[in-house]
Amino acid sequence: MKKSDAKRIQPRIQKLRAEIARLRDAYHIENAPNVTDDIYDSLTRELKMLLEDYPEFDDINAPENRIAGKPLDKFIKVKHESRMLSLNDAFSYKELQDWEKRVKKLLGGDRQVNYFCEVKFDGLAVSLVYEKGQLIRGATRGDGFVGENITQNLKTIESIPISLIGRGVNDFPDYIEVRGEAVLSKKTLEELNKKNEKEGKTLFANTRNAAAGSLRQLDPALAAERRLDFFAYDIKNLVMNGAKPKNHSVEHALLKELGFPVDPHDAICKNLKEVIVFIKKFEKIRPDFPYGTDGVVISVDNLDLQETLGIIGKAPRFMVAFKYPAERATTVVEDIIINVGRTGVLTPLAIFTPTLVAGSTVSKATLHNLDQIERLGLKIGDTVVIEKAGDVIPKVVEVLVGLRTGKEKKFKMPEFCSVCGTKIEKGDLVAYICPNKKCPAKNERYLEHFVSVFEIYELGPKILRRFKDEGLITDAADIFTLLKADIELLERFGEKSAENIIKEIESKKKIPLSRFLWALGILHVGEETARDLAEHFGTLKKLITSASLPAQTGTTLAGLSEIDSIENIGPAVLKSVTDFFNDKNNLNFIKKLEKNGVVAQKMERKKRGRFTGLNFVLTGTLSNMSREIAKEKIIGLGGKVMGSVSKNISYVVAGVDPGSKFNTAQKLGVKILSEKEFVKIL
Ligand code: IVH
Repeated sequence: MKKSDAKRIQPRIQKLRAEIARLRDAYHIENAPNVTDDIYDSLTRELKMLLEDYPEFDDINAPENRIAGKPLDKFIKVKHESRMLSLNDAFSYKELQDWEKRVKKLLGGDRQVNYFCEVKFDGLAVSLVYEKGQLIRGATRGDGFVGENITQNLKTIESIPISLIGRGVNDFPDYIEVRGEAVLSKKTLEELNKKNEKEGKTLFANTRNAAAGSLRQLDPALAAERRLDFFAYDIKNLVMNGAKPKNHSVEHALLKELGFPVDPHDAICKNLKEVIVFIKKFEKIRPDFPYGTDGVVISVDNLDLQETLGIIGKAPRFMVAFKYPAERATTVVEDIIINVGRTGVLTPLAIFTPTLVAGSTVSKATLHNLDQIERLGLKIGDTVVIEKAGDVIPKVVEVLVGLRTGKEKKFKMPEFCSVCGTKIEKGDLVAYICPNKKCPAKNERYLEHFVSVFEIYELGPKILRRFKDEGLITDAADIFTLLKADIELLERFGEKSAENIIKEIESKKKIPLSRFLWALGILHVGEETARDLAEHFGTLKKLITSASLPAQTGTTLAGLSEIDSIENIGPAVLKSVTDFFNDKNNLNFIKKLEKNGVVAQKMERKKRGRFTGLNFVLTGTLSNMSREIAKEKIIGLGGKVMGSVSKNISYVVAGVDPGSKFNTAQKLGVKILSEKEFVKIL
């Protein structure tokens, strides 16, 4: 074709793009069976050929450019505009009813509430940001606050629109964040595992792991090979002309209009009875549904009511995930081995003949402690019933004693640590502990924990052990002084892999204070507690100073420090945090980390609320929210709610039919707020 054909070619390119987009929608959104791959492929091929001759009409956001871009060195962190939350689970209809009772109590009165039901996909949560109709960023959930930018990989998913233009909606939002689940179909997983088996690679245990693994590929071409899909389920930070959706069901309708696949079963239910009908109906369809699911998500449909109900901890109160009952299977316990944890506690672990349960292959499960083994009456060689629900860790629930042969062996806790030979001690409650502070097993587990919190993915357990055995590292701080030359000299490590390891370590030296504290492995300090501490103190120095302050009362730990005043932190955490930071070895380890270039980044201290220092009294009935919600909102903003009116009260909030508190407030000259005024200052 000659260049002079350009005038004729450009409209053909545009038409082809529009037709390809239409076919894509028909296939992914309408589930139209009459769209064949052949037609789609043929049109795409023609478009590609035209663009090779006429590169001036190329467009980075056009559908044929889904798999573009070079492999990345690493993923960049992105802060979510609003936190990506989790869901509370309900494992029975009774728990669902309890959830509804709480919802109705909090909303006040016995009002009718519509619920929206949709399938809970078992994949990976992702966030997609569109500005002026163009996909500008796609990210993983991460810890809910900060995720990783995986735009290039998400663009390879055909069911994610790259551009909202041209779908018959003239008025797409100026700005929209779409949240949903990246999923892999059961069929694709089967094919992928067949291929992996042939090539001698490890098999994926379930569709969720396969989806997550695919999106973690630094090379988008590899991610594309996995043929992932996407289902949208939520909208955030919407900026658009005209009226915004007032119900979650309308958000779903908007998502569909904008070109996103949504759960085809979703439905509005007028009461819990209808919700249960939905759950039972989908339970029948579920085995044949092409994607992995682990339950049904139920939400209060009205968005204003959602706002009133708010969020508690990590999960909204207006939503709940109903989880289908666990699946059970039988297998044989081939052995019980001991795992020495990073705090020295010995945990028995059952090793099974690998078996399939709830969609994934299970080969081991923790038995927690000796008491648990005795309670189950479990012996090595026993046939057992194991249970697994969705993403819950499998557990042994029963021993099938009738299948015993007499050859089964009783399990005994070892007297000496199998790793360092130190005599095992009986610790708190039911725990057995290896008391040796330098036990290599503890150290190994600690290293694994440390690199996983620092997200140094290149250093898996095997590599860590190898580095230790070769004397390249003695503790976690040494990781940061590793050199490429040290690694590439080791057998089976080439120049390229050494380079990748060093590059990744280098890129992870800066870490938010919350993760730094979590990585330290302080007893009882997990991800959430570490965040609470980091948000309270802001810097490591302030936390260390507070933890090492001498006791004020001399009698109770509570007098020790400011740590005690942090919400959610109890005496056990207080003790372990103060013990940790008063141990010279730990302080030296932190110094070594800092010397080796690790930077625990300052965190913004939680702001004092707008109501800090203000005391409220509530009287009468509020029409738009229950008293409990009003109380929570005040406390959430730093205020206090008192039972009686005095001169120290800043505001009395008066609903309908206020009691004597209203009169007292008038007498004392305390400011009285109507419900409307109260809502305004909220
Ligand atoms: S709603 C508040 N809807 O479930 C956050 N989540 O257990 C929940 N999920 O991280 C968003 N299907 O990845 C919602 N239809 C659905 C879902 C869904 C799967 C996942 C999501 C979330 C997790 C929470």
